Amino acid sequence: MEREAVLVGIDAGTTKVTTLIGEVSRLGDVNVIGYGIAPSVGMKKGMVANIDQTVNSIASSVEKAERLSGYKISSAFVAVGGSHISSQNSRGVVAVSGHKREVSREDVARATEAARAVQVPSNREILHVVPRDYIVDGQEGIKDPLGMSAVRLEVETHIVAGAATSVQNLSKCIVNSGVQIDELVISSLAAAEATLTDTEKELGVLVADIGGGTTDIAVFVDGAVYHTAVLPVGAINVTNDVAIGLRTSLNLAEEIKIRHGTANLADVEPEELINVAVLGEAAGQTIQRRKLCEIIEARMSEIYGLIREEVKRSGHAGMLPAGAVLTGGGARLAGAEVLARDALEMTVRVGTPQGVGGLMDQLANPAFATPLGLLLWGAHHLGEEPIGYGAANGSNPLSRVGDWFRNLFPG
Ligand SMILES: Nc1ncnc2c1ncn2[C@@H]1O[C@H](COP(=O)(O)OP(=O)(O)OP(=O)(O)O)[C@@H](O)[C@H]1O
Ligand SMILES: [Mg+2]
Repeated sequence: MEREAVLVGIDAGTTKVTTLIGEVSRLGDVNVIGYGIAPSVGMKKGMVANIDQTVNSIASSVEKAERLSGYKISSAFVAVGGSHISSQNSRGVVAVSGHKREVSREDVARATEAARAVQVPSNREILHVVPRDYIVDGQEGIKDPLGMSAVRLEVETHIVAGAATSVQNLSKCIVNSGVQIDELVISSLAAAEATLTDTEKELGVLVADIGGGTTDIAVFVDGAVYHTAVLPVGAINVTNDVAIGLRTSLNLAEEIKIRHGTANLADVEPEELINVAVLGEAAGQTIQRRKLCEIIEARMSEIYGLIREEVKRSGHAGMLPAGAVLTGGGARLAGAEVLARDALEMTVRVGTPQGVGGLMDQLANPAFATPLGLLLWGAHHLGEEPIGYGAANGSNPLSRVGDWFRNLFPG
């Protein structure tokens, strides 16, 4: 039988909530069969700032997706953002058990558990324990140690944790919208699923999801995630600067930014004029386009400067041959890629989400890399038990459901 699964991704971002329903074929192909996009009210900088408003926003996007697909959503993979998220690498070591001295699933699980046993303060919640590399009797670079003869098994892991209260507030909002959580996935790892190629990850690459309120970063080295971080700045900061600089409303500033803005000043003629509406002035105002773009360029340079520092912190500055992949709505800004090339001093491309088919008309742009990545993450981890949030919380309702068919009931 062509066994298929249906899974759901919910990304409650700072500007929009996206719910996607995806169908996974037996071969692993993922197709969107329903989506719902709602304005996000109640989220600030990737975190819940108002429970009721956030629940309403999520519920509205869930309803839209349900209506479009004819399915009733019961559980979902959920994106987590916010600068409370931090990461570290940790190594776990165990002696291989069993008389045959062959690495078993149980040994791998014990090694991962040992790596996970790092000191995490009680106000922090582990979200991910990603195995990066196995070391079998001192031999490094093993991706799958199962069945190998060995005495000693080590695992290098990347551990991501977030503030317990922030994680709980988001979880509460999802559950209060009537949806159970299969797994919480940080935005950068979801965005990476939808935008990075295996070759880029092998070579060394940075993905930066420039959202409205935050910029989510992940550095991949030797095919696995090495460093993750969330910066509390995004495209809304650019819009705010424009609104202040040109004395317009935020809505107008957003419109002007998208219509006339670029981060690449080389693209702007010195005398180019544009007409903008100004608060309190009925006739509006004619301004030099250069003035607008200088405001944009300054803020984008600052964001890239912070990204650069984060790469330095990861210890891989100058060591990412595949360069940077920019995604998120902020990466749609004209000139974002060109300026990044100068500011980051590496090759840069804009990451449009790949690898998902179906109802993609509205979704085939960088702003949807994270929610589409949630579907790919779900498809790749189908049937596994999550080793991050959920596994450690056996008593809460967030552990991944075993039977994927029970996820959705025809509505
Ligand atoms: N065509 C465009 N040109 C320039 N900027 C754009 C364009 N489209 C969207 N943006 C910017 O992208 C931002 C929204 O990005 P995105 O949808 O990725 O954010 P989010 O996921 O809601 O927020 P976050 O990830 O920070 O919580 C907006 O602030 C908007 O200004
Ligand atoms: Mg986002």
